[in-house]
Amino acid sequence: MAGHSNYVPQSAAAKWLEARLPVISLMRGSFVDFPTPKNLNYWWTFGGILFFVLVAQILTGVVLAMHYTASTAAGFDSVEHIMRNVNFGWLLRYLHANGASMFFIAVYIHMFRGMYYGSYKAPREISWILGVIIFLIMMATAFMGYVLPWGQMSFWGATVITNLFSAIPLVGEEIRTFLWGGFSVDNPTLKRFFSLHYLLPFMIFGVALLHVWAFHTTGNNNPTGVQPKSKQDTVPFHPYYTVKDLFAIIVFMILFAWFAFYVPNYMGHPDNYIEANPLVTPAHIVPEWYFLPFYAILRAIPDKLGGVVAMFGSIAVLFVLPWLDTSKVRSGTFRPLFKQFFWIFGAVCVGLGYLGAQPAEGIYVILARILTAYYFAHFLIILPLLGFLEKPKPLPASISEAVLAKSGGGQPAGAVAAPDTK
Ligand code: HEM
Repeated sequence: MAGHSNYVPQSAAAKWLEARLPVISLMRGSFVDFPTPKNLNYWWTFGGILFFVLVAQILTGVVLAMHYTASTAAGFDSVEHIMRNVNFGWLLRYLHANGASMFFIAVYIHMFRGMYYGSYKAPREISWILGVIIFLIMMATAFMGYVLPWGQMSFWGATVITNLFSAIPLVGEEIRTFLWGGFSVDNPTLKRFFSLHYLLPFMIFGVALLHVWAFHTTGNNNPTGVQPKSKQDTVPFHPYYTVKDLFAIIVFMILFAWFAFYVPNYMGHPDNYIEANPLVTPAHIVPEWYFLPFYAILRAIPDKLGGVVAMFGSIAVLFVLPWLDTSKVRSGTFRPLFKQFFWIFGAVCVGLGYLGAQPAEGIYVILARILTAYYFAHFLIILPLLGFLEKPKPLPASISEAVLAKSGGGQPAGAVAAPDTK
């Protein structure tokens, strides 16, 4: 990362530090001088947005933890105490709860961006795989966080999901007991979930730094998918992308604020304002919206173990995506067939999300089975075949050529014609 820095320490103190811990040249090489493709569009701002939301979640979470009590006797009441008595406690809680949803909105856009522009393809496989690992830890973190307010959905959601592990042959029951810390979801379960919910975001942060390191080693992908060929194809990260990312973060904050201030409970479930009661099962146990497509896949398979395998398989398949897509062309912009299948796949994911919120009966289960089959077919059949069947459009010779073609093929704005030297 630091290799791109042209930083030369000036003062005696800066020289002293540089010889011992070159942290300034590392930061400058990574976030100031870093050569970034000059054609990145707004879909590339979501990585920065994700960092912003992650930090916001950690800050609000740390303060919430000062007032929260992780016990089945006091958990629910301590959240009400935060909402009513703690100064700005309502704001902290609403920011944190809606922040989780905003995090998933941003990460889904970020992942679909990667899928459309082929950012998972060589040489960026590691960036992608680290991303999938982050996604898994995010899901575990969000799941355990939702248990903490100890409402009805907290308790029953935790019961449904932890029970899934008992489907694993031979050791399933032991794993479930180990996760519970007893023989049902109870006080020990809540305590370990709180402990892990506090720990995991810092692991996400660590893996996100590796993620950045990986794509700073290979260089960023860009909307053409064509690697930068000369200095003309890139601009320094600062001020071009610092300002663009900042603008996108501000727009994103407006949406975030709208949820937190105007419809703070829109994305939550009203049953979670009823204290957990192991003797009363809610009519429908539904997870948070961001888990719904996976929940639909789980319930589409009539067999419990089969459902668990399909659900975890739907994420596991993402790890091997770089090798399933056989096309030589990265960006979907130049892949006419892929583009259509990409949008169908997007619609299938939304459809699965809708079905995940419906009762698991009748037509809903049939539809969930069809969409689940399509989900896997997209990765395991369509993408491998497309690489052979599709005739991609011609690629631009360079990023600069693509940029100029878009602006009418003329000189870039402000360019000075070369002097006529006869
Ligand atoms: C905490 C979560 C995450 C953070 C903070 C994060 C951060 C970033 C940043 C700052 C970038 C560069 C800017 C951009 O391309 O938007 C990036 C690129 C990338 N991310 Fe993430 N990311 C996260 C999660 C994920 C996930 C879940 C995936 C995929 C499963 C993923 C896949 C990628 C890929 C493939 C790139 C390279 C894109 C390119 O160069 O075109 N990321 N990420």
